[in-house]
Amino acid sequence: MGEILRYEHVDISYNGRPAVRDLSFTLDEGEILGIVGESGSGKSTLLKAAMGLLGRDGLVTRGDIWYKGKNLPDLKEKELRRLNGPELAMIFQNAGASFCPIRTVGAQLYEGMAEHGAISKAEFRALAVELLQKLGFENGGRILDSYPFELSGGMQQRVGIACAMLMNPSVLLADEPTSALDVSVQKQAVEEMLLARKNFGASIIIATHNIGVVGAMADRVLVMRNGAAVEYGETAQVLERPRENYTRMLMSAVPRLRR
Ligand SMILES: Nc1ncnc2c1ncn2[C@@H]1O[C@H](COP(=O)(O)OP(=O)(O)O)[C@@H](O)[C@H]1O
Ligand SMILES: [Mg+2]
Repeated sequence: MGEILRYEHVDISYNGRPAVRDLSFTLDEGEILGIVGESGSGKSTLLKAAMGLLGRDGLVTRGDIWYKGKNLPDLKEKELRRLNGPELAMIFQNAGASFCPIRTVGAQLYEGMAEHGAISKAEFRALAVELLQKLGFENGGRILDSYPFELSGGMQQRVGIACAMLMNPSVLLADEPTSALDVSVQKQAVEEMLLARKNFGASIIIATHNIGVVGAMADRVLVMRNGAAVEYGETAQVLERPRENYTRMLMSAVPRLRR
């Protein structure tokens, strides 16, 4: 398995204040990497850095983030936007909130896709319905014709997950994708992401404070604290034989999901 993404000694600051320090890891093709750590430990910052979404105050001040021979922090905004969707896609904690309330889900997904190249509405619809069905939505057409308010929060989040997969990205960056969901829907969302890997070969990084989700999904785990890596290894090793007290403490704080 080749490697698709590599962080090398990455430092990130907001207004000169360090938020991530000397972070290195690799993501293999088809791998799922879990990033865990308490709130404020730098998980979102790490993911946003790859997408160029740190905002005006944030900056990668040292190190490289390699994706297919390109160092992402060196790319111009326009180049990053071109990658965003077909190559790298992000799932946000509250995907529902990013839908516009007065237009149908389908219209919004179509617009996002049309930005990256010519696709007819009919082609889009066929593709989207098929994807939604693969991800366990019985009536994909009805989802596309819905307004966001007609879907429950859990449903919106699952559609957000599906939407990130629409352009078949090589890498999915999922930032607390299940945190806002109740437990039953959490499991569905986890299954959807696992299907993304199975059906499309996607590599996934999932940032979460939920060790249960990591145990159910991840091949490797990176544990973060105060912007630095505390522990990094195979999921079974990190969860069952953690080397650090901090990891043990995190694990005792959350219930586990069954694999
Ligand atoms: N836009 C921002 N401006 C200034 N500081 C920020 C910004 N976003 C995050 N931070 C700071 O960076 C650190 C890491 O935050 P974040 O990456 O959001 O952590 P996590 O996702 O693990 O909760 C925190 O100290 C947070 O306050
Ligand atoms: Mg976060």
